[in-house]
Amino acid sequence: MIETRLIDGKAFAETLRARIASDVTAFHAATGVKPGLAVVLVGEDPASSVYVRNKGRQTLEAGMASFEHKLPAETSQDEVLALIATLNADSSVHGILVQLPLPGHIDAQAVLATIDPAKDVDGFHVVNAGRLAVGLEALVPCTPLGCVMLLKDTLGSLAGLEAVVVGRSNIVGKPLAQLLLREDCTVTIAHSRTRDLPGVCRRADILIGAVGRPEMIRGDWIKPGATVIDVGINRITGADGKNRLVGDVAFEEAQGIAGAITPVPGGVGPMTIACLLANTLTAARRLVG
Ligand SMILES: NC(=O)c1ccc[n+]([C@@H]2O[C@H](COP(=O)([O-])OP(=O)(O)OC[C@H]3O[C@@H](n4cnc5c(N)ncnc54)[C@H](OP(=O)(O)O)[C@@H]3O)[C@@H](O)[C@H]2O)c1
Repeated sequence: MIETRLIDGKAFAETLRARIASDVTAFHAATGVKPGLAVVLVGEDPASSVYVRNKGRQTLEAGMASFEHKLPAETSQDEVLALIATLNADSSVHGILVQLPLPGHIDAQAVLATIDPAKDVDGFHVVNAGRLAVGLEALVPCTPLGCVMLLKDTLGSLAGLEAVVVGRSNIVGKPLAQLLLREDCTVTIAHSRTRDLPGVCRRADILIGAVGRPEMIRGDWIKPGATVIDVGINRITGADGKNRLVGDVAFEEAQGIAGAITPVPGGVGPMTIACLLANTLTAARRLVG
């Protein structure tokens, strides 16, 4: 029986944040500039408010400047676009993040398209998506970046490995597939119309769940020894009536089959904000020169 190793994203993210904080200190000493991250939140979605608070706290802890713009839910699209234009022009801001989802009357694509690609630390602008696709230097979406860091830490070189990404969103699945291709994996992207999903998953040396369906990927879909990265975050009510978070992979079933697996919570989740800070420092270095 295989001994399944736990991939500790929480510990990895803490080490990464400490390294970023020391790089920020050195950057500040060399240039006199503090990297600055502006976060725009429209409305009062409770989950988004928690994320924004955590981002603000961790930005300050990394020694960066944090600018929070909390706008009421009824803010017009033109007002949001005007704020982004101001942030684009502000030399103390090196990264701009618009917290999604936006209220229904605002066109998220129009808002994302207005962000200066050089400050697009979420990597959602079509210029950054296109640069990633053609192999140019780009700001890369944070969650996929975090997944690849964990994979390289676990496996070393990923070259030649069969990777299956389940999910094809612009935020996770597609950019993650691009990054794995850049690491010389042989990449399959699966989705809701894939035939024989269990069979496709069983081919994977690297199996990634980015679906948003609790424990959909069963233990017997996993090739023995495969490395499993679980991006899904799903809140379910257990038999005891208590709420808990589970991933897209049946974690207990994966024990003894997977070579290594990320837990939920404590796997991919903590990597996202750490990579946001890494992207902000990268953007500041490029903007300040
Ligand atoms: N920080 C983090 O850790 C982090 C960050 C982002 C997202 N997430 C989590 O990751 C999950 C995915 O997020 P997302 O934004 O990528 O979601 P999304 O935009 O809803 O995309 C889900 C993808 O899963 C596919 N899918 C749905 N049902 C399927 C099925 N039965 N079989 C195979 N594929 C199926 C969909 O296929 P179609 O395209 O065919 O519809 C789609 O491509 C969510 O649980 C989210 O909460 C976590």
